Amino acid sequence: MSEPIKLVAFCGSLRKASFNHMALNAFIERVPAGVSVETIEIGDWPLYNADIQATGFPDKVQAAQKAMLAADGVVFATPEYNYSVSGVLKNAIDWLSRMTPQPFAAKPIAIMGATMGLLGTARAQYHLRQMMVFLDGRPVNKPEVMIAQAQNKFVDGKLTDEATGKMLADLGAATMLAVRHARAVAHIK
Ligand SMILES: Cc1cc2nc3c(=O)[nH]c(=O)nc-3n(C[C@H](O)[C@H](O)[C@H](O)COP(=O)(O)O)c2cc1C
Repeated sequence: MSEPIKLVAFCGSLRKASFNHMALNAFIERVPAGVSVETIEIGDWPLYNADIQATGFPDKVQAAQKAMLAADGVVFATPEYNYSVSGVLKNAIDWLSRMTPQPFAAKPIAIMGATMGLLGTARAQYHLRQMMVFLDGRPVNKPEVMIAQAQNKFVDGKLTDEATGKMLADLGAATMLAVRHARAVAHIK
């Protein structure tokens, strides 16, 4: 029996009726047995400011880092704002990137995104992947979960599109494999 796998998740949208929140919930409902997901709220973190950092990292940033260091991987649900990730998500990444140990390093990173537009947050996701490469994370390459026209795929907060459900389940399975691979490599070292 494999050890349980813990993931921490971030959603880049703050609004109540967020399709990205719905997508993240649908992902959580489909993760393989033995995988758990803790969602970290980032909406009330201060804007990154090196002067604040100099007086100490905010408690919520420290708590997020601790949860990430205790976890095996990271999950992002990102909206696309002006062809990139939302400010709130970038702010959280900026804070966490300044911490030691830097908590994205060597972690499998699962990425999904939902938009009412036609490209399913593709442009935002490629920015996010680029950020994760800089931070030495291990973005899961496939499947790329780009949920276009999200307004047609959720009803009353629940995912109704079967193909999207399958992609989310496949992302959970791929992330589990990436964690197992990372554990095996750590064992060999
Ligand atoms: C400031 C802003 C910029 C946006 N830019 C884009 C964009 O570049 N591409 C896109 O597909 N949708 C864009 N949208 C639409 C959002 O993707 C859409 O509102 C989506 O539902 C937001 O995610 P949420 O439902 O999780 O809040 C933008 C929305 C806002 C508020």
